[in-house]
Amino acid sequence: MRNLSDSVALITGASSGIGRAISVKLAHLGYKLCLIGRNVEKLKSVKAETEGYGVEVKYFKVDLYSDREIYDLKEKFLEHFDNLDILIHSAGEFSMGYLESASLDDFDRQIQINMRAPFLLTQVMLDLIKNRKGEIIFINSSAGLNARAKFSQYAATKHALKAIADSLRDEVNIAGVRVTSIFPGRTATPMQEKVLEMEARTDKEKIMARLLQPSDVAEVIAHVISLPRTAEVTDLIVRPFQKAI
Ligand SMILES: NC(=O)c1ccc[n+]([C@@H]2O[C@H](COP(=O)([O-])OP(=O)(O)OC[C@H]3O[C@@H](n4cnc5c(N)ncnc54)[C@H](OP(=O)(O)O)[C@@H]3O)[C@@H](O)[C@H]2O)c1
Repeated sequence: MRNLSDSVALITGASSGIGRAISVKLAHLGYKLCLIGRNVEKLKSVKAETEGYGVEVKYFKVDLYSDREIYDLKEKFLEHFDNLDILIHSAGEFSMGYLESASLDDFDRQIQINMRAPFLLTQVMLDLIKNRKGEIIFINSSAGLNARAKFSQYAATKHALKAIADSLRDEVNIAGVRVTSIFPGRTATPMQEKVLEMEARTDKEKIMARLLQPSDVAEVIAHVISLPRTAEVTDLIVRPFQKAI
């Protein structure tokens, strides 16, 4: 069993929703944290909350649209941390619309954040993860397995993210690195609030209370990483238990 006080987790999308909840859970477990996002006020608030568990926490403002900022992150990371044990890709973009009329700009945004940025960030950090025989976790989506109407763009990027994870796993298991895709159903986060608005739902609060909670997804990840090294979770579906909609 690894000494967790030396273990470092880097989480994208740490400023909000599922990424924030994962950060809190990992701090509770004793991981040092590197938080990534664009909204500095929110990152500061996650830093304050997670430092309450007595772990070292740094945040970096990184816009995942920028390849340069992703490349530069490694040097900044290594100024503060000696090693990287867990890389969690939670940052995400969402838009919905009929294929007939959906905008290509929206598609490009989702390709960049949901697919290209996790690919590049993994490439940049992979030697560090290999050094520690670490873990890479991709927050995918139930839409990545089953594309409903109006989800063509988002679902396509998440399908692609699964392909990236599957191929990577086949490449790095031999180096002792585990790769997991998590496929949450609707989860009560700011992103889901926007989805409910796009769907013109009137009973948003009631629905959000019945959905999967971000802390539920974080609990799932805590289980995945706690498994003995004889086991690897490759793909894990987690969905709301009660019918919310
Ligand atoms: N909520 C759901 O129902 C649901 C279901 C299945 C899967 N998911 C997936 O779960 C993941 C987390 O989503 P969430 O629901 O927690 O959404 P959220 O609360 O809206 O959080 C999205 C996160 O992505 C970050 N992000 C977006 N664009 C970025 C960029 N250009 N550069 C850097 N960071 C960026 C945001 O950071 P800043 O705001 O600081 O830029 C934020 O921290 C996503 O991959 C999403 O696809 C969500």
